[in-house]
Amino acid sequence: MSNDGVNKGRRRLLIGATSAVGAVGAVGAAVPFVASWNPSAEAKTAGAPVKVDISKLEPGQQAIVKWRGKPVWIIRRGDEALANLTTITDSLTDPESKIPQQPAYVPGTPARALREDISVLVGICTHLGCSPTYRPELAPADLGAEWVGGFYCACHGSRFDLSGRVLKGSPAPSNLVIPPHSYANDNMIIVGVDQETA
Ligand code: FES
Repeated sequence: MSNDGVNKGRRRLLIGATSAVGAVGAVGAAVPFVASWNPSAEAKTAGAPVKVDISKLEPGQQAIVKWRGKPVWIIRRGDEALANLTTITDSLTDPESKIPQQPAYVPGTPARALREDISVLVGICTHLGCSPTYRPELAPADLGAEWVGGFYCACHGSRFDLSGRVLKGSPAPSNLVIPPHSYANDNMIIVGVDQETA
């Protein structure tokens, strides 16, 4: 495993998944990741699709890949996390994702995903472009008793749930963007290739 791209402080790994298959190595910790930084020449090409092997991504874990210069998050959500998405509707600015921040083929509320258990999001805040932090824990002291897991943007305090839906009171005006993507099979996501054309 290479340490390139590793942010040890946040215990995350930036991975580059390629057509040769980007391995996702789980680490048994509450917070998440993936373990390979091995972009191919193709993946280095601007705009090239990025294939991500999610076979080892455990519930609660987050993989991060780079696509078109942007971080793309892939999170596997467990049953509790999915159930919690339905409890916070009244706290959301756009719970049904009516603002088109996702491809038309991605189902809306509450999972906002081609597959309920897998959330795929562009990891850039829709306020002014910082990259929020993955905060999957329940009711942490700094985020409050109502927090059921999501993403927190430290720049100006925007909050998003695990579907990337923005919470009311955040400076961010809209939900996180969902990139075009598709599944080559149960364990392989292709970021940058639409589901309809895969
Ligand atoms: S850039 Fe995220 S809250 Fe401002």
